[in-house]
Amino acid sequence: MVEWTKHDLLDLSDLSKEEIGIILETAKSFKEVSQRDVKKVPALRGKTVVMLFFEPSTRTRISFELAAKRLSADTINISLSGSSVLKGESVLDTAKNIEAMNVDVIVVRHSSSGVPKVLADGLQASVINAGDGCHAHPTQALLDMFTIKEKLGGIEGLKVGIIGDILHSRVARSNIWGLTKLGAEVTVCGPSTLMPIDIEKTGVKITFDLMKIIKTSDVLILLRLQQERQQDKFLPSIREYAKMFGVNKEKLQYAKKNVLIMHPGPTNRGVELSADVADGEYSVILEQVTNGVAIRMAILYLLLGTKGMEEDR
Ligand code: CP
Repeated sequence: MVEWTKHDLLDLSDLSKEEIGIILETAKSFKEVSQRDVKKVPALRGKTVVMLFFEPSTRTRISFELAAKRLSADTINISLSGSSVLKGESVLDTAKNIEAMNVDVIVVRHSSSGVPKVLADGLQASVINAGDGCHAHPTQALLDMFTIKEKLGGIEGLKVGIIGDILHSRVARSNIWGLTKLGAEVTVCGPSTLMPIDIEKTGVKITFDLMKIIKTSDVLILLRLQQERQQDKFLPSIREYAKMFGVNKEKLQYAKKNVLIMHPGPTNRGVELSADVADGEYSVILEQVTNGVAIRMAILYLLLGTKGMEEDR
């Protein structure tokens, strides 16, 4: 039996298959807490969790905050507009000053890849990566894997298609690490200009044929077209992209019978997916959001040390 020993969560590439399994199992027991009338357990009473977000977020920030509160931790939210980074202070100095107030976990989101690693190397507090640049978004991938396992019973042997802006997607990168480690066959699909060079080296297949991936996949993860990262004109137009790679009901009629439609959010309806697919019978997009709280509860609980706390759950 593998024991949890990690102090930070920076990406899934740092975790073994067994460690991913521990997170998914722990989340299963925490999911029930959010379904109770009183959605709270005392497991992290007296601990402090700081959300340090330098990029916009709805799901991840609120989900971490709810997760921490449901474990009875104290929480603080800091955004770019409220931090001294705007006055020239480095992110590490800002984080060291926050740590000096005896906080236990810093959850960080930043537009530059590598910021969570810099903080983890420079701080005693645990650091959780809530999304860094185009690099990684480990908690999104974990909640995606949790949702797939819950819906389809397992991950090994499944065919998972990831469609869209692979080049800029930290969600795609973390999912590729996690899903291939758990034995899924992952295929990526998108415009050639939005496909990273050497992506095959991560163990995935590539196709530029949307209908092929729709017909053969058990799970389709649709990615947001990251318009804020399209300064270099990777596409002729958004309309062209939607026509070539957008998933709508008409295209989806060729999918497997119980295909799962997933999306990390925020969705661009009419671009990467149509409204009737987002709200349709195969969509588990809101269930992903629900499961995000359980996954983040599990991660906070594991990182802050579980020894002697079992009776508190
Ligand atoms: N999936 C995700 O990271 O969403 P937010 O940007 O709203 O946190």
